[in-house]
Amino acid sequence: MDAHSSSKVNINGTKIPSIGYGTMVFPEPEKAVELISFALDCGYRHIDTARKYGSEAWVGEAIKHSPVAREDIWVTTKVTEENAKAYDFAQSVETSLTTMGLNYVDLLLIHWPQPNVPLGETIGALVKAKNEGLAKNIGISNFTVDLINQAAELSSEPLFTNQIEYHPYINQDKVIDACAHHGISVSCHVPLARGEVLSDPEIVKIARMHNRTPAQITLKWLIQQNATIAVPRGLNQKEIIENITLFDFSLSDQEMKMISDLRARNLRIVDPEVRRPLWDKP
Ligand SMILES: NC(=O)c1ccc[n+]([C@@H]2O[C@H](COP(=O)([O-])OP(=O)(O)OC[C@H]3O[C@@H](n4cnc5c(N)ncnc54)[C@H](OP(=O)(O)O)[C@@H]3O)[C@@H](O)[C@H]2O)c1
Repeated sequence: MDAHSSSKVNINGTKIPSIGYGTMVFPEPEKAVELISFALDCGYRHIDTARKYGSEAWVGEAIKHSPVAREDIWVTTKVTEENAKAYDFAQSVETSLTTMGLNYVDLLLIHWPQPNVPLGETIGALVKAKNEGLAKNIGISNFTVDLINQAAELSSEPLFTNQIEYHPYINQDKVIDACAHHGISVSCHVPLARGEVLSDPEIVKIARMHNRTPAQITLKWLIQQNATIAVPRGLNQKEIIENITLFDFSLSDQEMKMISDLRARNLRIVDPEVRRPLWDKP
């Protein structure tokens, strides 16, 4: 049942499936393993989790019982800003791996910047996890231009990605340019703006023209951009299938621009007062 098999994007020689299954918050936790397993069954080969989400155990269980080989599944997890100090960071990575029943992740991210701990210390712990074979690739999340530049300077290993909020209603040009400058890919979280973009008249119009859904048009707009990856969360089988059935059509340059122009809406959804950095102004 691999009809929706995800296509991969090549980031400096490493191939990652351009669509991952997001696992932050399952309103019905008892369905989490079933949904993650369904995602694997229908072709997802990339799962996005984090210590903070509480979903690592479900991810591990789904992988354990899946007929798909471990090495064919890309697993991303993250260390929260509470664990930015070197010792806590290492403990967090170990707990994540134990919780998932894995001996490595494909990508380990610093989940949020932590202004109270020197970035060099956290980056050092991230690099150490890679050098110890616990993470095949390392990266950052929710980092601004200044922080991206600092992280790239401090890291002795290449940074694979910066996972940021990116969807048609937010302008992330500055951050995307800074990532490109350092050869860092962009992973898009809340790629559907938690459903906000799905009734947009322009997106609905383009969806009708392609006989697709607004979610498919939005995700296609993201992954058709250079070096981008998206991790939508589907909460039922229809959404999960839809969000990965994207590899048999393309958007025209004009359609790409029409959707890019929606950024004027300037909507940032993930903006927690307790941990947000000073965001770059559009
Ligand atoms: N690094 C970070 O700081 C960070 C922050 C946030 C998220 N993330 C990652 O990004 C992932 C995705 O973010 P998210 O889950 O918050 O938001 P999202 O993917 O933008 O939106 C998910 C919601 O959109 C709806 N949806 C999904 N597919 C649909 C479809 N085909 N048709 C119609 N509606 C659809 C569902 O809503 P209904 O409930 O209405 O069905 C679903 O709950 C997370 O799960 C997590 O892995 C990372």
